[in-house]
Amino acid sequence: MGFIGSNFVRHILQLEPQVKIINLDALTYAGNPDNLSDMLGDDRHVFIKGNICDTSLIKTIFIDHDIDTIVNFAAETHVDRSIHDPATFIETNIQGTYTLLEAAKEHWGKASATNRFHHISTDEVYGTLEPDAPAFSETTAYAPNSPYAATKAASDHLVRAYTETYSLPCTISNCSNNYGPYQFPEKLIPLIILNATSGKPLPVYGDGGQIRDWLYVEDHCEAIYKVLCSGRVGETYTIGGGNQVTNLKIIKKICQLLDTLCSDSPWVPHSQLITFVQDRAGHDRRYAIDASKIEGELDWRPKHSLSQGLEATITWYLSNEQWIAEIDKKDNYREWIAQNYKGRELQ
Ligand code: DAU
Repeated sequence: MGFIGSNFVRHILQLEPQVKIINLDALTYAGNPDNLSDMLGDDRHVFIKGNICDTSLIKTIFIDHDIDTIVNFAAETHVDRSIHDPATFIETNIQGTYTLLEAAKEHWGKASATNRFHHISTDEVYGTLEPDAPAFSETTAYAPNSPYAATKAASDHLVRAYTETYSLPCTISNCSNNYGPYQFPEKLIPLIILNATSGKPLPVYGDGGQIRDWLYVEDHCEAIYKVLCSGRVGETYTIGGGNQVTNLKIIKKICQLLDTLCSDSPWVPHSQLITFVQDRAGHDRRYAIDASKIEGELDWRPKHSLSQGLEATITWYLSNEQWIAEIDKKDNYREWIAQNYKGRELQ
């Protein structure tokens, strides 16, 4: 159960009494059953461990549960890992999406108005923005720069093609950087929080001047549900938090919040832990989203300011030591991270 998917399942179960969710997850390194432990007793939620590339399993699930709606969150998502090992990205993100599309096409036949295939994607398919260029929107040309982004671009194209060719009722959303509770701590924000609270270096790639547009995960879940309920078939919606900030600035902001929330820590001021490291290969300089289409058409706006979202996120990580300890027991991700940073410190 991944980060955005598990937040979405919780969001929908709390919102919709009549819903039944079949939650398929391969539980790879970043998938964690603890992300939904509070929802396991709810019989509207069925968890199945399995891979979206497994054609016969997918067909069986479609038949057994008469699936009418798919929301495809399943993906390998970490850019750094895609640089080291693109193969799993190609398999899960491209082959997996294809498998789901085929099963939906076969099961739904001539799809009815109640069927919907929603594909979750990323703003990274659009490449990088110059400092003064207008933000990415639904009409921006695709120009993916990392192996990860290229696989997401390929999957978006497949989804689009299935609507055009087979009239499969699909929608796509391309979001900016998500953050919030339950995010696997290899991504910038949880990594900085956990490193800072244990006195470890806070790695800043390159000069830290890269810009990301931060979106609180609950706001993203609300947006996805709006697209699912009212988005037009065949359309794409870009979703962003309206928070363009450099990496260095957000890292310093996290340090300041920690200085207040953990004022007894021996590492106050936490900014002393900031360490510049060699840049990521092919690192995109700037992402930003123009969300005016979803705002105008579906009346969605993010509800959390960056300060509110960061404080909620930090508080969540500070109060969920057991969740963090379980990840440490299960996975050698810290070893992977150590390898990723090995020899990269800049003097
Ligand atoms: O924009 C949406 C994308 O956001 C999603 O499609 C990706 O799945 C998700 O991982 C995220 O991609 P990023 O590469 O932007 O996220 P990440 O958290 O890895 O890095 C955020 C920024 O921080 C990026 O400019 C790289 C930088 N960074 C990251 C790490 C892990 C650092 O400076 N130091 C770090 O240790």
